[in-house]
Amino acid sequence: DSRDPTSLRTPIVAVLGHVDHGKTSLLDKIRGSAVIEGEAGAITQHIGATAVPLDIVSSIAGDLVDPDDFDLPGLLFIDTPGHHSFTTLRSRGGALADIAILVVDVNDGFQPQTLEALDILRRSETPFIVAANKIDTVPGWDETEDSPINATYESQTDRVQGRLDEQLYEIIGNLSDEGFSADLYWRVQNFQRNVGVVPVSAMTGEGVPDLLAVMMGLSQRYMKEEMEIDVTGPGVGTVLEVKEEKGFGKTVDIVLYDGTIKADDKIVVGGQNDPIVTDVRALLQPRPLAEIRTESRFEKVDEVSAAAGIKVAAPELGDAMAGAPVRVVRDRDLEDVVREVEAELADIAVDTAEEGVVVKADTLGSLEAMADALEDAEVPIVRAEVGDVAPRDVSVASTADDPKQQVILGFNVDTLSEAQRRAETDDVDIFTDEVIYQLVEEYDEYVEEIEQ
Ligand code: GTP
Ligand code: MG
Repeated sequence: DSRDPTSLRTPIVAVLGHVDHGKTSLLDKIRGSAVIEGEAGAITQHIGATAVPLDIVSSIAGDLVDPDDFDLPGLLFIDTPGHHSFTTLRSRGGALADIAILVVDVNDGFQPQTLEALDILRRSETPFIVAANKIDTVPGWDETEDSPINATYESQTDRVQGRLDEQLYEIIGNLSDEGFSADLYWRVQNFQRNVGVVPVSAMTGEGVPDLLAVMMGLSQRYMKEEMEIDVTGPGVGTVLEVKEEKGFGKTVDIVLYDGTIKADDKIVVGGQNDPIVTDVRALLQPRPLAEIRTESRFEKVDEVSAAAGIKVAAPELGDAMAGAPVRVVRDRDLEDVVREVEAELADIAVDTAEEGVVVKADTLGSLEAMADALEDAEVPIVRAEVGDVAPRDVSVASTADDPKQQVILGFNVDTLSEAQRRAETDDVDIFTDEVIYQLVEEYDEYVEEIEQ
């Protein structure tokens, strides 16, 4: 292979699923296995993400992966907390994640956020596999720590095998109801056409070798062209979160999906009003757990290359928005970079009408997803913004003539107490939820009530 592996970026893998189905545990398990392999230092904990290099992937996956088959540098896993929408993970032209793992608890099955995640995977055309998690909870399960699924399955009694089969076929049936043709991963020939289901336990590590092997295979086979980027060019990324950080003021946690960012770079970040032009003050990575107690939680780094999760401290970030683009200027013309960020923001902007409901969401991506869902439901929007429900949103909603539009729909946001008070006096209804379709359903029910 003549390609230079240093020019291949790490594929970005989003781990998503319903609350408590085991996303974080799965990543903890992968990190833990690396520690057991004596390679703790090789896995780098990023902001909101975990980078696992190829040699670690292959040592965990054992016989299931031959590192010679791969020239991608590894995998970058992004953990999305259940209450936080995966829709944050957008990038220029679509999904930030190259591939995804949808975690489903085999006992709990499909839940609202499972369906929401599937909907987003469908819309963004992100290839994914399903990790059918917590197989160790099948009554009578005989565990073999860190075993590939085939061996541990064969060592179970008929009864246990039968019970697990039932649970797995339930999940495959649920996927089919949602329009995805799925099967157990070892029966899947074409992962683009069929969704592979991998039985795992984040607790015992059973099936984790299979999961990693499938993810490597999937990214190598289907993602390759998109991975060939200029990893030394000026960085491009997406804001995951805007956070106040002691000693640093407002910071942005970003996922860099192209190029590099350096500690002395000038950057342009998408803001509530105009793009923010600012100078990086520090690039921060979390310290290994052991050091956190004695020192600051972060250590400063000089430079990171895609794909990476990093905290950026810089002045003027107060207006930055989750889901917004970030671009490094470096030797490029500042005006060009500002225009690119503006163009990206315009691309995400929601079409508003003269009259309609007010929509608030936690990130640009979720605002976009809300707007899509409301468009499908033929609900017009008068104002759409990222942020908590504020008094001025209530003012806008209260001016609507139609009581059906004296409404604020908030997705994954809080309501400021002043806004709450004003809503009560101004007769504005505020609905908030952490699942988009539930929010739309609540609004539909409200409209039905009014119309009766
Ligand atoms: P959120 O971040 O809140 O959305 O949850 P999560 O999906 O990250 O779930 P998390 O990893 O925090 O796990 C939730 C609970 O399930 C914890 O108590 C875990 O110990 C437990 N759990 C996760 N995976 C397994 C598993 O494979 N087997 C068993 N028995 N328990 C598990
Ligand atoms: Mg979690």
